[in-house]
Amino acid sequence: MTNQLWGGRFEAAASELLRRFNDSFSFDQQLLAEDVEGSIAWADALERAGVLSKDEAKKTIAALTRVQAPVAADGYEDVHSYVEAKLRDSIGELAGKLHTGRSRNDQVATDLKLWLKRSSAELDQLITSLGTTLAKRAAEENATPMPGYTHLKRAEPVTFGHWCLAYVEMLLRDRSRLRDAAERGDECPLGSAALSGTPIAIDRDALAKSLGFARATSNSLDAVSDRDFAADYLYTASMLLIHLSRLAEDLIFFTSDETAFADLPDALSTGSSRMPQKKNPDVLELVRGHAGRSIGELTGLLALMKGLPLAYDKDMQLDKEPLFRMRATLMLALPALTELIAKLAIDRERMKSAASHDLLLATGVADAIASRGIPFREAHDIVSARVGQAIKEKKTLRELGTSDKITAADLAALDVEKALGKRNTFGGTAPARVAEAATVAVRRLDG
Ligand code: ARG
Repeated sequence: MTNQLWGGRFEAAASELLRRFNDSFSFDQQLLAEDVEGSIAWADALERAGVLSKDEAKKTIAALTRVQAPVAADGYEDVHSYVEAKLRDSIGELAGKLHTGRSRNDQVATDLKLWLKRSSAELDQLITSLGTTLAKRAAEENATPMPGYTHLKRAEPVTFGHWCLAYVEMLLRDRSRLRDAAERGDECPLGSAALSGTPIAIDRDALAKSLGFARATSNSLDAVSDRDFAADYLYTASMLLIHLSRLAEDLIFFTSDETAFADLPDALSTGSSRMPQKKNPDVLELVRGHAGRSIGELTGLLALMKGLPLAYDKDMQLDKEPLFRMRATLMLALPALTELIAKLAIDRERMKSAASHDLLLATGVADAIASRGIPFREAHDIVSARVGQAIKEKKTLRELGTSDKITAADLAALDVEKALGKRNTFGGTAPARVAEAATVAVRRLDG
């Protein structure tokens, strides 16, 4: 008997080319633990249904728990044939009973969902720990002024803590998307067999629960052909990476020689083989690069699925590698970013001095004029003309002093702390608000 699970009707053995093109064991062996787990649950269900005797089930399950990872990937079509071959090595022909009423189609969908459940739980924790690190830094830097930008032009002062908490909001949404997806995918396909359901009288609900799923899938055709859960994961992960990429981009800018607001930890920076002075943000650039690639992984899977007739088609074998790659990327990117954020050295003085520039405070002067009852549009024109004059005369607004339209009290708005303190409405950057928001964020992340 070969390791192949099919072939009785074929007159010729599988060609070497077929084998090399068709086999998935080189990558789907990553599902070994899940395949064994699903098989143990199936053996148990077969015993309850009277297909396996108590003794047969016991032997089968004991042998399954002894299945070891492969030494070499050769000679097996996929992880399912590998597990069955190992079972046969240890318990002989009895191994053949395990596939009663089961197909690799419901098996692979179950394996992949189990794998994703674990990966999502891991990812949930990694997102939480990055979020918590950012929220803690926000609490420390709640009153650290820095320039806020729009169009990458200095706009108005914000605090570094407020910047940290902006990313916490994104991460909280990412985590909630992940949890939504996990909940939607929490249905067990096992017992759907090839496409039409299993002829064995299995209590599918009990089987689903024994594997840690919330419930069993409701339609066998859908169960073996659904990969929405994989697409949900890839979408969630790419949205997360897009956020991480924006964070990376901000930090590349803040640690650039042009702003020098912050300095990267040495242990997470690289040097140049040619230019001795260089300290490069490779970690951040790789995060940005991976975000681009993750969009490709998502669109690749969507394109893979779009034309597939029900139910299972072999195209779906290609659903796994994008998931494996995505997980591997996130397992490295998130801890690296978490450490980088924890150890990022902030130059508070430099940030503050950049944020205190007259021009970032011009909005405050217009607000002060408007608070005297002058329409904001007019106040905007007054300050705008004054800014034009200041630029032309290479002076600051403060140096230009008062005018018939700008009072000394208006000019008092040219103060970074005042400007920050005024943004005191819920969601604003006032230090007191940021401190409060940081505390709330830590609590929300704990949930
Ligand atoms: N290696 C296959 C996959 O990953 C397992 C399912 C095979 N099913 C089949 N009908 N050939 O999709």
